[in-house]
Amino acid sequence: MPLEGMELFGLIGNPVGHSLSSPMHEAAYDELGLDARYLTFEPEPAALSTAISGADALGIRGLNVTIPFKQDVLALESVAADELARRIGAVNTIDLTGEEITGHNTDAIGALRALRDHDVTLEGATAVVVGAGGAGRAIAFGLADAGATVQIANRTESKAHKLADVVPNATGHGLDSVAGLLADADILVNATSVGMETDRSPVSADALHSELAVMDAVYRPLETRLLREAAATGATTVDGAWMLLYQGVEAFELWTGERPPVAVMNEALRSRL
Ligand code: ATR
Repeated sequence: MPLEGMELFGLIGNPVGHSLSSPMHEAAYDELGLDARYLTFEPEPAALSTAISGADALGIRGLNVTIPFKQDVLALESVAADELARRIGAVNTIDLTGEEITGHNTDAIGALRALRDHDVTLEGATAVVVGAGGAGRAIAFGLADAGATVQIANRTESKAHKLADVVPNATGHGLDSVAGLLADADILVNATSVGMETDRSPVSADALHSELAVMDAVYRPLETRLLREAAATGATTVDGAWMLLYQGVEAFELWTGERPPVAVMNEALRSRL
C-alpha cells in the first residue's frame, strides 16, 4: 500500500514529458476531497511488465498508458485487456483496483463523448476519419460501434484498407478521396498529427461545409487551421482538448467509482493549453 490513506495513480510512457493528465486528475481529487496523487512514470521499454506488476504490488490504483506502450500492454499476460481494447489493439488505461489487472481503451468512448457533448448525432451518421494510426483506430471503432458509417482516409492508403477490414461498416480510402467523401458526410475527424504546432490542415478548406461537425484530435494549438476553416463555413467544431478530457473522465470513473467533476477537469486542462 502507498502512504497510509493516500491513493496513487499515474501515467506510464517513455518519454512522458509534461503531462496534462496530472493537473486534470489532481483537480478532480481536490474537488472531491480525495487524498490522491497522479504521477508520471518512465520505465525502460524492457521493464514494462515489471513496472506494471510492481505498481500493482505497491498499491498504485490505476495507470494511463501512452507512447510507446499502448500496444505493448496488450501482449502482457499479466494484463487482462477487455474486448474493445483488444479490437482497437491498444490499452490506454490499466485498472489495478481489483483482483485482476485489467486493460481498457477510453480513447474511443472519449471521442464519442466529445462529439455527443456538442450535440452531434452518431447513430446513422456518415463519418470521415482522416488517419489510420493509433488515434484513428480508436476513433473509427468508436464511431462504428455508435452506429455511424465510417470512411477511413489515410496518406498510406493500404493502412486505411487494413483498418476498414476490421472496423464494422467501414471503407478505406487515400487522402485524395477526402474532398469527395465530405460532400455527403456529417462528421469529419482529423486523427493525424497534421496541424500540430503548424498552421496546416489535412483537408482542403473548399471541401468543408456548414452541415459538418468537425473534430480535431490535435490540441496544440486548440484552434487548428482545420477547425478555423471549418468554423468559417458555419460547421460545428470540437477541439482536441475535449477528447483528452473525456478519455480522462472515463478513466477517473473506472478507477474511483466516483462521479467525475467534468467541469473542473475541463478547466484544469484548458488553463494549461
Ligand atoms: P497516433 O497514435 O497519434 O495516431 P500514429 O500512429 O503515428 O500516431 O499515426 C499518425 C497518423 O498521422 C497516420 O495516419 C499518418 O499517416 P501514415 O499512416 O501515412 O503515416 C498520419 N500522418 C502523419 N503525418 C502526416 C502528413 N504529413 N500527412 C498526412 N498524414 C500524416
